[in-house]
Amino acid sequence: MTIIILPNKEKQFIRDILVKEGISDHDASDVADVLVSADVRGIKSHGLSRLKKYLDRINQGLIERTPQLTEISHKGNALLLDGHNSLGQITAVQSMTKAIDLAKEYGTSVVATGNSNHFGIAAYYSMMASKAGMIGFVCTNTSPLMAPFGGKKAMLGTNPFTVAIPADKHHDIVLDLATSQVARGKIEVAAREGQKIPYGWAVDPEGRPTTDANEGLKGTVTPLGGPKGYGMSLVIDILSGVLTRSDYLEDIGSLSATNKKQNLGYFMVVIDPSIFVETTVFKKMIDDYIDRIKSSPKAQGVEEIFLPGEIEANMTEKQEHDGIEIAEGLYHAMKTLGEAYHIDFDDYLQK
Ligand SMILES: NC(=O)c1ccc[n+]([C@@H]2O[C@H](COP(=O)([O-])OP(=O)(O)OC[C@H]3O[C@@H](n4cnc5c(N)ncnc54)[C@H](O)[C@@H]3O)[C@@H](O)[C@H]2O)c1
Repeated sequence: MTIIILPNKEKQFIRDILVKEGISDHDASDVADVLVSADVRGIKSHGLSRLKKYLDRINQGLIERTPQLTEISHKGNALLLDGHNSLGQITAVQSMTKAIDLAKEYGTSVVATGNSNHFGIAAYYSMMASKAGMIGFVCTNTSPLMAPFGGKKAMLGTNPFTVAIPADKHHDIVLDLATSQVARGKIEVAAREGQKIPYGWAVDPEGRPTTDANEGLKGTVTPLGGPKGYGMSLVIDILSGVLTRSDYLEDIGSLSATNKKQNLGYFMVVIDPSIFVETTVFKKMIDDYIDRIKSSPKAQGVEEIFLPGEIEANMTEKQEHDGIEIAEGLYHAMKTLGEAYHIDFDDYLQK
């Protein structure tokens, strides 16, 4: 049996649970919007499947129910914020809103937010800027899963970054990636299915490359492109952790740890293109850019060249219309979760 939920119903389910958990309707809507956006973009590892983890952390006293975001310092277009250990999605939406407002005033803005939590997909926030006709850059540090290049102890997170660039007739360009070769989740799937992993995905506890998924899980994921991804992850950790006076390296709390706050940070930059070139002209140039990439010669066997974010945008259009397929395991997990809040997940599904 195929289980389908429409995006607005998934949003309602998440919002209803969060409101019952004591989150305000407005804040619950923000969190729901980010999680559903991940699912419709096809990034299911960061959508509805994460809801229980956030609720658990609230109930363990590791995330505050009532969000706060205060200024630590503000100089011109640069803002340092304290997220007061609120839900990451709420803090990140509010931080990006401030970054966009500052960029409207100054042409550019830099907002660094510390003392916060996992915010889900980074693209949601860079796209807030591109939807406002600006270029958005966002990065965050995360709990350690990756050894430095040449090392064997997990010191760095899969620290993602994203850049969103507005187009006119085309979808905005949205680059959004982790700085590890693959998400650890993919190695977990291989281990569950008893399959080998490709060489280069992970190293064993001694730092040796392995194709054994279980050894890879005992070891660490590898950085994207060896020393290059390692370097990117390290820079992101410094911008997001050190600059925001939050934790960095292996001090960051894991989402799964039941006794430690995450205390991580975000670093956001917004650029209003009109300080360099009129926005309508800029967007048309981005359209031209996209047209030229897409019409460039394809390699043998390739049917279409995609821009960063294009596959996710196509997926969004499809799933906004057809609904999101819920895997059976997630269905049962949400059914059980809903029961704890006297909410029936079935009421939200497509009949
Ligand atoms: N908050 C956190 O702690 C955290 C940590 C790591 C990752 N993430 C999120 O996980 C998500 C997945 O990250 P990922 O690295 O697995 O992404 P991915 O490998 O699926 O995609 C990376 C980028 O490549 C582009 N891309 C993929 N296939 C393409 C193709 N054929 N042609 C052109 N472009 C293509 C995508 O549009 C995307 O911009 C992201 O949203 C990221 O922000 C979050």
